[in-house]
Amino acid sequence: MKIITSVADMAGTCLQSRHSGKTIGFVPTMGFLHEGHRSLIRLARSRVDIVVVSIFVNPTQFGPGEDFDRYPRDMVRDTGLCAGEGVDILFCPEVRDMYAEGCSVSVEEGHISHSLCGLSRPGHFSGVLTVVAKLLNIVRPDVAVFGQKDAQQCRLVQQMIHDLNFQVELIAGPTVREADGLAMSSRNVYLSEEARRDAVCVPLALGLARQLYEAGTRDALDIKDRMKTLIGKYSLARIDYVEILDRARWKPVETLEGPGLVAIAVKVGSVRLIDNITIGAAVVPPESLPQPLRQ
Ligand code: PAJ
Repeated sequence: MKIITSVADMAGTCLQSRHSGKTIGFVPTMGFLHEGHRSLIRLARSRVDIVVVSIFVNPTQFGPGEDFDRYPRDMVRDTGLCAGEGVDILFCPEVRDMYAEGCSVSVEEGHISHSLCGLSRPGHFSGVLTVVAKLLNIVRPDVAVFGQKDAQQCRLVQQMIHDLNFQVELIAGPTVREADGLAMSSRNVYLSEEARRDAVCVPLALGLARQLYEAGTRDALDIKDRMKTLIGKYSLARIDYVEILDRARWKPVETLEGPGLVAIAVKVGSVRLIDNITIGAAVVPPESLPQPLRQ
């Protein structure tokens, strides 16, 4: 596995690979890798000749007072994990190489980014789209793999690829979960023992939404209320949002007709957790959400 830290070297190496007829798959990450990242690397591996993983804790997607400085990092472990997964190139650029002094252009989106996480994290998605655009231009992959766990991010990247004519296919990987249903996330390490116990309210609320839908409930307000009541029973949990959107139009729905995205953000202790599921789709992604407790 090649480890590259310079932007220029990375662009040159990928250009060479492309010229030799190899297809490239790309998995961008911020490191502290877990099974979720690993599943995306495997998805890429199954599709292309050369797998590139980037590890870059991107400062522009963290707001003031957020956790940029204390975001978990472990390069030694991450390098071993990537090598074990047969990653061909690990790209770990420096902040000053990615954001040269004086850079003043960024990517803004005007609809999807104004909802859900965009409301509580102003500027976050502009930072995400800008760094993803830069990484895609450096690596120029055939396929880029993102996690459905971050459904809004995934959708925004898809929109950017379409609107700005990036020549790359986006693949969305299903969410990988812990045994109790909690979606894996690098930030889960911040959870105290008590907060980790209460964090199960997130997958339980999503499981409840699916159960209600399957039992015939189509009233989105009713489903959201029941989810909020469930979460309210966990003392360390504070709801940021519980929303049900029409997946295609990215608009909140009152009555579920087509595929709906049930998305939630809950602060448990000091950690903000986000998660989502799709309900009402012809093909529901295989996910193992626990059944809600009868309380
Ligand atoms: P990071 O949080 O490291 O996530 C990297 C990729 O892993 C994202 O596409 C994310 O959706 C996916 N992922 C995270 N948890 C997952 C899980 N439990 N199951 C499956 N996939 C999961 O998302 C970012 O980094 C950054 O915003 C980035 C896109 C790299 C831009 O800086």
